[in-house]
Amino acid sequence: MYILLWNAGILGILTPQVLGWGIQYDGDQVLRIIPENVKQVQCLQEMCQSWMLDLWKPLQPEDITVGNVVHVRIPSTALQPMKQDLLHCSLSFEILIDNVKHLVGPKPKGTEQRHKRSLASYNYTKYNSMEEIYHWISQMSESNQGLVTQHFLGTTYELRPMHYLKISLQSNKSKKIVWIDCGIHAREWIAPAFCQWFVKEIVQKHKSDPKISKILQNIDIYVLPVLNVDGYIYSWTHERLWRKSRSQHENGTCYGVDLNRNFNIKWCTLGSSTNCSSNSFCGSSPASEPETKAVVNFIEKNKSDMICYLTIHSYSQFILTAYGYTTELPRNYNETIKVARMAASELKKKHGIDYSVGTFSKLLYEASGTSQDWVHDLGIDFSFTLELRDNGTHKFILPEDQIRPTCEETMAAVMTIIDYVDDKYFPNSAPVVSFFFWSKVFVTYTVLQMM
Ligand code: ARG
Ligand code: ZN
Repeated sequence: MYILLWNAGILGILTPQVLGWGIQYDGDQVLRIIPENVKQVQCLQEMCQSWMLDLWKPLQPEDITVGNVVHVRIPSTALQPMKQDLLHCSLSFEILIDNVKHLVGPKPKGTEQRHKRSLASYNYTKYNSMEEIYHWISQMSESNQGLVTQHFLGTTYELRPMHYLKISLQSNKSKKIVWIDCGIHAREWIAPAFCQWFVKEIVQKHKSDPKISKILQNIDIYVLPVLNVDGYIYSWTHERLWRKSRSQHENGTCYGVDLNRNFNIKWCTLGSSTNCSSNSFCGSSPASEPETKAVVNFIEKNKSDMICYLTIHSYSQFILTAYGYTTELPRNYNETIKVARMAASELKKKHGIDYSVGTFSKLLYEASGTSQDWVHDLGIDFSFTLELRDNGTHKFILPEDQIRPTCEETMAAVMTIIDYVDDKYFPNSAPVVSFFFWSKVFVTYTVLQMM
């Protein structure tokens, strides 16, 4: 059935028109404000609510607190009155970004022809449109038979297929599963870029890298390159800084659910909003969204084999463990933190980038309904959220020249985690010595014989 739906998409029936970004952000500014007392906090909260401002830090007006930094985007039309309101509340501010349009840059072009490219010339060091990613997913499975297969996970709100790739070597022993999803938040474009990079690396190196060969003896890796397909497309065609999905609420007066608040774990109790205009809208009920349901169904079906869940976001440079919904520590905190530290240290060796390690609630913010917590409380100990580059300079608009180093270092971190769980669940599996190794031994031996 999904083939039919996808064809409909290609024909343009369901695809949003590519009109250029509806929202240009021209003249919009991002202000940095630190409220110094409760009155100023209240004042700022009211402003955010009445102007429906796009809060970047924290995510919700309720989470603004005395002494903590607030980053907020002010539309150009609201700048003058807003600044007056700030003055009125004796709030001083700093202009963090003078013109958001310059940060966002021009709309990426040429996606129409590019998706027809061959897999060998696929460009992993730029951001790829959903069309290109769909094409890449099918090419990956077609060109790597016996290793990569494409599967249908479910359908999005706007009826697009959600595809994942299964990386699996044929074997008659029973294997465990590692799951990686990217792009639950639309604007975090580096995440899908990493998922694609990850698959490419595994495919290219599964024979030559003994660590990868060893892991693939025991583990199948499932990669969902874009979880929030509708949102991702919307961030390309209409609003670069869109975060949520695209479901309609209250008779089409507002759109989208924060899919990372929609999971059935202390749903909508913390760091979530019941207001459908909010960026952290938790949806109408737990797993109300088709995208969430698709992931939940798959993980519930496979939970007895799943040993590790990784969800890729940006930005902040964090490796986060459970919990988001409480500041209490998860059951296996010491071990997961140890693994996260190992991963951060391997990551730093690549390009010197520092990552912080800790629980979601301590490092990022308190939030319920996240996929990481839902998976952890389902019984999967190793459940991590990775917040990739950067630490706040470019925020969600990570320049394309940082895609390669970000993916390289993230690869190191992710492989460290997978290697750890592999050793833990398969303690006696010796690394396989590859064909490349033996061929080198053979050549050396032959050459020595000839001497
Ligand atoms: N990916 C993050 C999220 O899930 C955003 C991190 C950056 N935002 C911030 N306010 N520091 O919400
Ligand atoms: Zn995110």
